[in-house]
Amino acid sequence: MSELSGRTIVLGVGGGIAAYKACELARLFVKGGATVRVAMTTAATRFVGPLTFQALSGAPVLTDVLDPGQERTYGHLELGRAADLLVIAPATADLLARLRAGMADDAVTTTALACDCPVLLAPAMNVRMWSSPAVRENVAALEKRGWQTVGPASGALADGDVGPGRLSEPEEIAAAAARLLGPRDLSGRKVVVTAGPTREPIDPVRFISNPSTGRMGFALAKVAARRGAKVVLVAGPVELPDPIKVKVKRVETAEEMAAAVDDEAGDLDLFVGAAAVSDYRPRDVAAQKKKKTDEDEPLVLTRTPDILASIGKRFAGKAGAPVVVGFAAETEGLLENAKKKLASKRCDLVVANKVGRPGAGFAGDRNRVVLVGPGERSHVEGTKEAVAEAILDWAVELLDNRRPR
Ligand code: C5P
Repeated sequence: MSELSGRTIVLGVGGGIAAYKACELARLFVKGGATVRVAMTTAATRFVGPLTFQALSGAPVLTDVLDPGQERTYGHLELGRAADLLVIAPATADLLARLRAGMADDAVTTTALACDCPVLLAPAMNVRMWSSPAVRENVAALEKRGWQTVGPASGALADGDVGPGRLSEPEEIAAAAARLLGPRDLSGRKVVVTAGPTREPIDPVRFISNPSTGRMGFALAKVAARRGAKVVLVAGPVELPDPIKVKVKRVETAEEMAAAVDDEAGDLDLFVGAAAVSDYRPRDVAAQKKKKTDEDEPLVLTRTPDILASIGKRFAGKAGAPVVVGFAAETEGLLENAKKKLASKRCDLVVANKVGRPGAGFAGDRNRVVLVGPGERSHVEGTKEAVAEAILDWAVELLDNRRPR
């Protein structure tokens, strides 16, 4: 399972008899080359000693976020921050309920709440508990959040009942974890992503901008880093935290964004222009706040640098040119405009995105796009991370043909 190698997997252990099987799971993760960190609920420590997991993972186990002896400053957030994947096994009925409610009352729920990575639940409980409406609802709610589940398996349970409720076999959980972690097919690659809007000042207190939230670009940066790339994210003013393992350069104006991209373009493998760069800026920026009058106020706008086009131009026709991906946010003529952009900006792929309607585009966690290449196109719909995966799948294929490692 090469997907595990070099990844950090946090294993959250719940308090059920199947906790002993989580030991084997930890061992499989370590064997696959992952760094394993373990968090346990208090109930889990009654079934298996933390020392067992410490020996298997080679690191202290987080069991009590309120213990002054264990808790370093914000240590309870550390596991969540470091994780490429959180696997919760066994996920008991009680733990599922607390996870669904967003509680942070032990090491596992706190870690889950503070993590920003995929989560895999491996439920295990009595068959009647598993089929109870409360548990069904909790699992459905967690799945709706994008969390995945593996199992439970059917069979004879420890309590004598027969049916679904057994923790899936460790090998099966490890295989599901590997699938969720996905490939490291961008390792050794340098990726630059632009994200968010730009702000073009009119005077010290006013500017021209747009409602881009930066989420698509941040998702791209995060997923590219997860897939092993060295990622630089050049972000306009947005309210999103820095993604883990990504170098983030925060800028305001299109010119600052262009300069930051230019600085990073030297050894570039893949450029993704996901920013909604302002095409114009006020030609003259007032040094002091403009006073209002009763007259109309003319505002002369001048073009900003086209960052995407200048990357395309800089490498056009050069051997080993980077793969260049642009976005086309359009309110009409989506595909025609995307095709035009492919040629005029010398992109390898244009992600066409209809904006100005609810459910997709600027705000929100989901997106619906068409990937437009020179000879092919495909529709993708899903979370912004799922769309990012699809864009990167496409870019990796081209990159591997053009610039073999
Ligand atoms: O021409 P248009 O703005 O529709 O093109 C959108 C694409 O070009 C996006 O990928 C955007 O990031 C990029 N762009 C840019 N610099 C600009 C304007 C757009 O990089 N000044």
